[in-house]
Formats: sequence, C-alpha cells, structure tokens
Amino acid sequence: MRMFDMIEKKKHGQAMTESEIKEMIDLYVAGEIPDYQMAAWTMAVYFKGMTDEELGALTLAMAHSGDMVDLSAISGIKVDKHSTGGVGDKTTLAVAPIVAACGEKVAKMSGRGLGHTGGTIDKLESIPGFQTEISTDRFFEIVNQIGLSVVGQSGELAPADKKLYALRDVTATVDSIPLIAASVMSKKLAAGSDKILLDVTCGSGAFMKKKEDAASLAKKMVAIGERAGRETVALITDMDTPLGSNIGNSMEVEEIVHLLNGEGKEDLRLVCIALASNMLYLAKNNGEETVTMEECEKMAEQAIKDGSALQKLIAMVEAQNGDVTVIKNPDSFKKAEYYYDVVAQHSGYVVHMDAQQLGISSMILGAGRETKESEIDFAAGITMHKKTGDKVQVGDVIATLYTEKYDTISEAEKVLREAYEIGEKKPEMEKLVIARVTKDGVTWY
Ligand code: URA
Repeated sequence: MRMFDMIEKKKHGQAMTESEIKEMIDLYVAGEIPDYQMAAWTMAVYFKGMTDEELGALTLAMAHSGDMVDLSAISGIKVDKHSTGGVGDKTTLAVAPIVAACGEKVAKMSGRGLGHTGGTIDKLESIPGFQTEISTDRFFEIVNQIGLSVVGQSGELAPADKKLYALRDVTATVDSIPLIAASVMSKKLAAGSDKILLDVTCGSGAFMKKKEDAASLAKKMVAIGERAGRETVALITDMDTPLGSNIGNSMEVEEIVHLLNGEGKEDLRLVCIALASNMLYLAKNNGEETVTMEECEKMAEQAIKDGSALQKLIAMVEAQNGDVTVIKNPDSFKKAEYYYDVVAQHSGYVVHMDAQQLGISSMILGAGRETKESEIDFAAGITMHKKTGDKVQVGDVIATLYTEKYDTISEAEKVLREAYEIGEKKPEMEKLVIARVTKDGVTWY
C-alpha cells in the first residue's frame, strides 16, 4: 500500500479495502506515515465520506491499535456512556453515581478537554487529591466494591485515535461524521464495557450543528456497536444552550453536588435522568424487557431523592484519594480571585446563545486549554444567570465571569456578549432530549 494512492482513492470518493485501512492505521501509529499525508487523507474523507464497510474497518483498526481492555474481572454487566462533547457538559459526574446507586456497574475511561469543550477528567481533577491515573487492578477493585470508577484514558487505549484526533484538531477535520464515529467507537470498543449509551450532542456548542447530522452520526455509531456485539443506544440531546448554570471545572462539580442534593437546575436534571435511565434500561434488560423505561426513570429519580447517588459520588472520590470535604460542602472549593458581572445592555428575551462562544469565553478565563500544553485554572469559569428563553432588563446581570487572571476579563466579556442574542420575542424552546436511536431506528421526541 502506498499512502499517495490511498489519498488519491479517497480524493475521488473510491472505497479502500479492509486490509488497506488496517495497514494504513498500523503504519501511521508506527510513525511510518507522516502527518502531512494523513492530514490530506482526513481532508479527503471530510469531503467524500466513507462507506459503512470502510467505517467498520477503520473503527476496528483504530480500536485494535492498542490495548483491548478486558473487564471480566468486574462482575455483572458493565455499561459505558460517551458524549460527543460540549460546553459545560457535566452529566457523567451525576449519571455514573446515579447508575451505580441503582445497582449497576460503571467502569469509565474519560478524556480531557480541548478548545471550547470540557473534559470529565479535568473536572474530577479539580477535586483536590483526586487521582485519575490508577492501576488497572485498583480500578477493577473500586468498581467491584462501590459500583463506579472514572479514570483517564491510558495512552495504550486506541493510540491511533489519540494521534489522529490531535491531527484533526489542527487541520479542521474534527467535524466529519465518519471520523467522529470511528474515533468514539474505537475507544468504546477498546474500553470493554458490555453496553454503550451515547450522548450525541447537537447545536451551537456541539460538533453536529443540525439534527439530521446528529441522527446520521448516531445511526452510524449504533450500527458499529451492534455489529461488534455491544448493545448500543444513542440519545440526541440539545447543546445549543449549555446545561445548568456553570461552565468551568470545579464550578461544574459544585453544580453536580447541588443536583445530587436535589437542588439542581431543571434542564440539567432532566438530561441526567434521561441518560441515567437509558443506561439502567440497557444494563437491566438483556434481550427481553423485564424493567420498563418508566421504572428506570423512577429508580434514577429516587437515587437523587434518597441521597444514595451523592453517597456513591462521595465513595468514588474517597476511593480515588480525593478530598471529600469539597463534595460534602461544595462551597469550600477554592474560589477564583477575581469575578466580574456582565450586565445586559438591552431589554427583551435571550433568544439564542452560542454555546461555542461561551466555551471560548471560559477558555480565555483559564477554564480550558487552547493547546494540549495549556495549564487549566480549575476555579475559572462562567455562571450563566440568564439563558435562552429568559426575560432580561437593562442592567440585569446575565453572567458572572471568574478568573485568576484579571487581564483576561475584557476579552472574555467581549466574546461572552457575542454569545448572547437578545431580542423582543420569547423564543420557542428546543426539546432537551431530541431523539433516541437504537438498532431499530430513530424515535424523534
Ligand atoms: N469526541 C471524540 O471522542 N472524538 C471525536 O472525534 C469527537 C468527539
């Protein structure tokens, strides 16, 4: 196989064979295909797409480029969750403890944030002492004992994705449906869980801006999972407006603790319950329906009401050496040195928010990474006091910015103002859970 020929093939929309794809991925991981050729290939895929056969071969080649995790040392069904990313996307921090409180096992490997999107591992590391790198034996032990553990992805898990993702990130080829599908599913197949719930985000803060594209991505990922023998379901959720009130690492953990104390924002609570009940439905039903979705919803709600989900979060933080005082009393999280209230300059309604711009504003404040090497400021971020659909008067505080670096405030404010569109008429609100995708098709809500 000559890489030049593969680029030429994809440039003309021709299909590569399974063995060509496998060889290409193996050579790329071995450093024998240079980044400039791989970048040309990803751009050709961006424009010409891939057949389902090519996509299946690419996903498997990427999954097998490193360790295939064997979770059989953990008893019972293991259920995983993956979000295609977003701004203020904190649901894993609530959903994993809820599912564990309902008796199921969550052995989760998560990623870090880059650019305008956040990552669960950064949020967990904002808890003082919390270890996201632990030995595999300890990971299994924690899941067996308390039902959940969330750790960082080791470099040995789908290394082809690690390399390709970094390349796509700097060559404007992240938002390609087949490349996202292969990236997500290679990691999920390698991570070893029996069942997979995908949260395919859609809207201004997501890679998929349109519902039709989100559905197409979801269908492809569900098909890959099912073909690999892992029952896979996807929810398409709204990421036009970030969920809850907070964007920023410790600020999001704080918000999740409030949610698990029964005090959360309704939009965040609704999406967390939908994700958790779908994970429970997958874990508790093997082929036949022995538990209904409504029963799963009730179980998830009860786990918040009776405090058992919060106890699971505390148990995980303790097991991974984190300081539980910030979970028991989230006000004790270290606060950013500076805060700044952004006030409305017009009256009306918030008619639209650009979640990506909000993510960029929080990154400028220090909450995210501009490059892989950037250091995160865990206390930095944004509290949104007004969101899409809310009425505002001139002078109302629409958002508060938090940072350790005073000189970031004016640029962050400028970007945040661009994210808020204020108009005269109250807008129609999008559904939070837009669709559910299974191997049998798409159900739009
Ligand atoms: N999340 C991933 O894991 N990969 C992508 O390509 C996009 C989002």
